[in-house]
Amino acid sequence: MRRSWFSERLPLAEVEAAIQHKTVPQHRHSIWYYLGGMTLFFFLVQVVTGILLLLYYRPSAAEAYDSVQFIMTRVPFGWLVRSIHSWSANLVVGAAFIHLFSVLFLKAYRKPRELTWISGVLLLFILLAFGFTGYLLPWNELAFFATRVGTDIAGAVPWIGEATVRFLRGGPEVTGATLTRFYGVHVAVLPAITTLLLGLHLVLVQYHGMSVPPSVEARAAREGRPVRVMPFAPHFALRDLFGWTVALAMLAGLSAYLPWELGTRADPFAPAPAGIQPEWYFLWTFQALKYMPAHVLGIDGELVAIGLMSVGALALIFLPLLDRNTDRSRRIVTLAAIAAIIVMVSLTVLALAGGGGH
Ligand code: HEM
Repeated sequence: MRRSWFSERLPLAEVEAAIQHKTVPQHRHSIWYYLGGMTLFFFLVQVVTGILLLLYYRPSAAEAYDSVQFIMTRVPFGWLVRSIHSWSANLVVGAAFIHLFSVLFLKAYRKPRELTWISGVLLLFILLAFGFTGYLLPWNELAFFATRVGTDIAGAVPWIGEATVRFLRGGPEVTGATLTRFYGVHVAVLPAITTLLLGLHLVLVQYHGMSVPPSVEARAAREGRPVRVMPFAPHFALRDLFGWTVALAMLAGLSAYLPWELGTRADPFAPAPAGIQPEWYFLWTFQALKYMPAHVLGIDGELVAIGLMSVGALALIFLPLLDRNTDRSRRIVTLAAIAAIIVMVSLTVLALAGGGGH
């Protein structure tokens, strides 16, 4: 079929012209522009490998563990597909965190990109929910007890706590009902929300183009010249492709040389083994809860921690509205972000080292 057949029916010429005209700012911080693309790469890997795992996985307490074992031992390349899905699940969260902090330091959330930022924060929360629900699916010991601890936290909230725990677990305890529920959320609810949010995020990125950091803008203005740009095609696209290649190399190396383990089958009646920990990206919250005193000003310590984290999450979502875009407020945002990184990394290291509060 000739190209003209399509161009008479689709706006191909317009799309081509848009690509030809698209440019990307070029400056010493340009490298951070590749992180969104790398996050996207890991996310697409999750979609493809997740669909492959779906073909053999069985979402019930009786069959889940065996079906994953079957995937790892009997299905051709099943071990590799599972290993890629598990490693990429961690890398996508890592890449999204770096992407978040880099766009924060570049102040890319400023007008008119507020909605790009808000959709991004919501995408990060969704990625965390993917991680939390996916962790339970192999129905192994570690995941079972970590889910029990993780869902228990919601119980500290007054009035709605108990109902929330029941809603999350599908009953008072973590059982097969929890597994089925997490499975539905993991393979249907979260992917549907992600498709909408990611679509919005990427359309907005195209619509506004890449932002120019205030320091680069100021320098160009001082020197009385426009900000340097590079053509999107092929210059930026090829660099983006390089980012994807680096992501692929990391993923392939980790998945093949450090295959993801399955661990032992969950036994809901066994006592919780020592050293139960959630995924690394939840460790800092886990550690913060440990350090919380039993009561703060007469209020339950766990509740205070949940309250503080909720305020932090809301502040993150509404950051573009909190930053008044003056030199001073931008500096406050940078300092607050550095402080947040130091706290999160320190708590994670302490959790890994096995330090505990009460
Ligand atoms: C599934 C997760 C995500 C994907 C796949 C994704 C993808 C992308 C892509 C491909 C870009 C364009 C390239 C770039 O600037 O790096 C971008 C830009 C952007 N993203 Fe994300 N993103 C995700 C999560 C986030 C998060 C967590 C935030 C932070 C809250 C965020 C905020 C932004 C902003 C503000 C821009 C515009 C950057 C600029 O104009 O300079 N995104 N994203």
